[in-house]
Amino acid sequence: MPERFYICTAIDYTNGAPHIGHAYEKVLADVMARYHRLKGDDVFFLTGVDQHGQKVQQSAEKQGVPPQEFVAETTAKFIALWEKLGVKYDGWAATVEPRHKTCVQRILQRLWDEGKIYKDKQAGFYSVRQEQFLTDKERGEDGEYGPEWGQVEFREEENYYFRLAEHKEWLLALIDSRADLIYPDFRRGELRNAVEKIGGDLCISRPKSRLEWGIEMPFDPNFVTYVWFDALLNYISFAPGGGYDPREGADLTEFHRWWPATIIIGKDILIPAHGIYWMIMLHACGFSDADMPRLLVHGWWNVAGAKMSKSEGNVVDPDVLVDKYGAEALRYYLMSDIATGRDSDFSEERLVGRYNTDLANNLGNLLNRSLNMAARYRECRVRKAEHASVRSVADAATAAQSRYSALDANEVDAGLAAVSEFAGVCNEAIERTAPWKLAKDDANAGQLDAILYALAESLRMIAILISPVSPKAAHGIFDQLSWKMEPALSGNEARFSLADAEWGKLPDGHVVGKPTPLFPRIEAAAS
Ligand code: MSP
Repeated sequence: MPERFYICTAIDYTNGAPHIGHAYEKVLADVMARYHRLKGDDVFFLTGVDQHGQKVQQSAEKQGVPPQEFVAETTAKFIALWEKLGVKYDGWAATVEPRHKTCVQRILQRLWDEGKIYKDKQAGFYSVRQEQFLTDKERGEDGEYGPEWGQVEFREEENYYFRLAEHKEWLLALIDSRADLIYPDFRRGELRNAVEKIGGDLCISRPKSRLEWGIEMPFDPNFVTYVWFDALLNYISFAPGGGYDPREGADLTEFHRWWPATIIIGKDILIPAHGIYWMIMLHACGFSDADMPRLLVHGWWNVAGAKMSKSEGNVVDPDVLVDKYGAEALRYYLMSDIATGRDSDFSEERLVGRYNTDLANNLGNLLNRSLNMAARYRECRVRKAEHASVRSVADAATAAQSRYSALDANEVDAGLAAVSEFAGVCNEAIERTAPWKLAKDDANAGQLDAILYALAESLRMIAILISPVSPKAAHGIFDQLSWKMEPALSGNEARFSLADAEWGKLPDGHVVGKPTPLFPRIEAAAS
């Protein structure tokens, strides 16, 4: 039965250019979206940018441009990168859009009317440089605030608070009862511990005197909304079917056809943002337990074991990598060299190594040799024949097909490894059966037909299985196999379907094309 999937990602801060972490998350979401389409599911994939907040206001000030102009420029960089990387989304969440602003303000108004937001006064130590109130956690061992906070002064400030703490027990019960709430499972324990420690409510406003670049509180024009409260709501304001309407009596039929979403985020924004604030915000808005979103929490790409940071100068720029190696090589690396949920180290040598081993040598050679032999020995026409010596290939196909369902458990790396091993079995079968020897004696014609068919059929299946990760390569393989060439299908995702990845679907007498190298080896060592 086809299912409906609403897949969202975190929305990226637009206070700088996209880096490899952003690229990883969006490619992961794109692969999951493509995988579900491959299965015949209905998918709506939302991604976008987080354009408000203090960091953006500061960066814009530094450049001497209005924040609108600043975010328009940085947003364009993200959009250009997704285009280049083949990240194909259905909806674009940009938080400066009126549609989002309206939704955020309606929700705030409703929560205010229902008494779920209140005004209060905060007094405490405030860092002028970091523009935030400090707590005892920020004190150094000597009990003083360190120089990183700059001038620290005692301040009193009025703000609006969202009643968070009263939902603590509810959230603990939810975490215990919904096993599918968070992937991977070990994050559930982490979240539970954090929820146990919830102490107070959440300050959701900033006085305009210190932050202007945000969504105005609908009931008080002297304040803007705290950027997280604004940003988290993107998942419902940009939901398919016009978004969520919190007003009494609104028609939510279309919204509920898609909701709850699967939200793909990095480990740093589970606690407190998504695991605590977001769940409680939805609960306060009247969402049922069954309507709480699923969180897919991925790990981080580090560099030589260290966190990427501008100050360290070790930030990896995906744009440069795409220009150097192509989108498919980068997508393949990002999906195969990390276990979803865990961290990994980014390394250009490993990117090149993965590409050369799995794509150029293993799959590329298989394609080239198979089609060359079909051309040389059978004038490109493959006959559906069976022979005991190639049964291992058909068995490997079945094994790959079943191991590929690891993608249902978000294990993209395991799915790709299964496909790569399958291609390896095909290459071994070529070595073992040595078609160039079989071709010398007509008595072996049946066996030769069987191996040539098995190779073409395997390539057809492999193309389907790699299509979510490497769509261009998948099209390239289909084109060279001369398979599904109808103009409506060419270059179209609809060309691939998981149901077609079944052994024996290539008809007897099919005429394949001539090979052209699909994955030229990357020769130069990484520089
Ligand atoms: N704007 C917030 C998210 C709001 S969602 C309502 C934010 N933005 S971010 O630009 O800092 O990060 C966007 C996503 O990229 C997050 O999910 C974050 O975890 C992810 N990554 C940032 N650095 C990363 C790596 N080094 N590796 C993998 N992903 C990382 O947080």
